Amino acid sequence: MRDTILSVIIVVNILCGVLVYFMPDLGNVILLTIASAVTLLAIYDAFLQKKHSLMRAFPVVARLRWIFEEEREKIQQYFIEDDLNGKPINREKRSIVYQRSKEEIETVPFGTQHNVYRKGYEFVKHSLFPKDHHHINGERVLIGSDKCTKKYDASIINISAMSFGSLSKNAVMALNQGVKMGGFAHNTGEGGISPYHLQGGDLIFQVGTGYFGAGRSLNGKRVFDAEIFKKNAVRPEVKMIEIKLSQGAKPGHGGILPAKKNTKEIAEIRSVEPFTRVDSPPAHDAFSNFEEMIVFIQQVRELAQGKPVGIKLCVGDNDEVEEMIKAFAKANNYPDFIAIDGGEGGTGSAPLEFSNYIGTPLLEGLSFVNKTLIKYGLKKQIKIIASGKAIDAFDVIKYLALGADVIGMARSFMLSLGCIQARECNLDTCPVGVATQDKDLVKALVVEYKNVRVKNYHKKTLNAVKEMVAAMGKESITEVEAKHIFRRGKDANITSLDKIYYAESEVLVN
Ligand SMILES: Cc1cc2nc3c(=O)[nH]c(=O)nc-3n(C[C@H](O)[C@H](O)[C@H](O)COP(=O)(O)O)c2cc1C
Ligand code: SF4
Repeated sequence: MRDTILSVIIVVNILCGVLVYFMPDLGNVILLTIASAVTLLAIYDAFLQKKHSLMRAFPVVARLRWIFEEEREKIQQYFIEDDLNGKPINREKRSIVYQRSKEEIETVPFGTQHNVYRKGYEFVKHSLFPKDHHHINGERVLIGSDKCTKKYDASIINISAMSFGSLSKNAVMALNQGVKMGGFAHNTGEGGISPYHLQGGDLIFQVGTGYFGAGRSLNGKRVFDAEIFKKNAVRPEVKMIEIKLSQGAKPGHGGILPAKKNTKEIAEIRSVEPFTRVDSPPAHDAFSNFEEMIVFIQQVRELAQGKPVGIKLCVGDNDEVEEMIKAFAKANNYPDFIAIDGGEGGTGSAPLEFSNYIGTPLLEGLSFVNKTLIKYGLKKQIKIIASGKAIDAFDVIKYLALGADVIGMARSFMLSLGCIQARECNLDTCPVGVATQDKDLVKALVVEYKNVRVKNYHKKTLNAVKEMVAAMGKESITEVEAKHIFRRGKDANITSLDKIYYAESEVLVN
């Protein structure tokens, strides 16, 4: 095959040479130049380079494969995928975020594209006496146990953790400004608080195992530093503290900041070496068992002058999680909230196996934590924040029905900023300036336009939640329970989620 390809290329090159000899105009000269460049490339591919066998066997032609491989995602997205099969977030869901963010028409024509008879199809039942959605309440929740003195009146939808470093400064600014306009909260992510977070919006200050903004390096280890933490925690913008144990996309693995994205500015904020890959350790240095964890939570709460303190985790071993909740009950001291991230959660960068095969999916993790809190009498003290591909109002309602008090959303807010799901967040080449530190690409995201989109998406999604709840004949979002959501099993077998996720003996009173 190699010889045939080379022969064709050389013959074309000779023909171009003959053409120029008899008709030496500009067009033909350009043609000859291109043909000669292709010939040289073919010789390089076939004889000089030794790394790629495919290119040696199929000179030049094999390069098309590389181009298609590179552009596969885009080709798939633009030409192949339909509304329901894009991954990880399908086109229908992405479109509703874009429409709500831009305040565009958000109705659909002709009828559902979903197959309502397929196994796994989910729906809620409406009432013959729907309510007026303008009068639905329950869109805010007070977070703070009896151990906390500065409870936070939270929206039921907030921005889940994403750091400056993972996201660009313009993305962080637009998120925080949108949060300020809309009256909800923005989780800093484990990268600490940057100037871009301080745009006046409410913050949830996340403390990860790298203790960025909450610690320092000591003998090659990152350790918690009470003074550094306190300086950030008492800022008026900080309304709650979240201690990150794990996240769904890489449970048991610390955060990863790729070297390319670790700019001088980010390195300074995190007190690390610039342009090196920064791996946070998998576990905290400040505690190594539940008793120490409880002491640490209390210490953090006191340093934060009584603000609510929570933990974020993806459920792993159920027994271990139950042990933890049991320890909270025994010590009569606990976090003010538990943020549960599903195994389907997003990330800027994670090892494949961790993303694909570690961590309990949200519905199982959430219902397990909910019933365990009820079992140990802690449901009233500890609020649950759930995150894992919550995009539209149905997702929100489903997670609330299964026991969440508040929903965290990360990728949908990225979409509201203009993310096109190019999935290059770990490469520093994000084409829309959301997840990159490349100065030119960052400029693509204009804060003054995108902040409004963040606000709009939040407001419109909340409105859609109220409309659904009103259609169900309820007066408050808090009235929706797992028994109101239904899933098709085999054939005509339709079961409510309380039967699937909660055994009959388990009390489901919040
Ligand atoms: C770009 C990006 C960065 C993230 N950074 C963090 C982080 O710093 N800390 C954390 O706990 N989770 C982080 N996450 C996980 C999200 O906070 C969230 O838990 C997860 O993506 C599930 O929400 P989603 O499905 O709405 O995206 C990140 C997710 C994304 C997409
Ligand atoms: S556009 Fe692509 S690279 Fe940019 S944030 Fe979205 S998924 Fe990540």
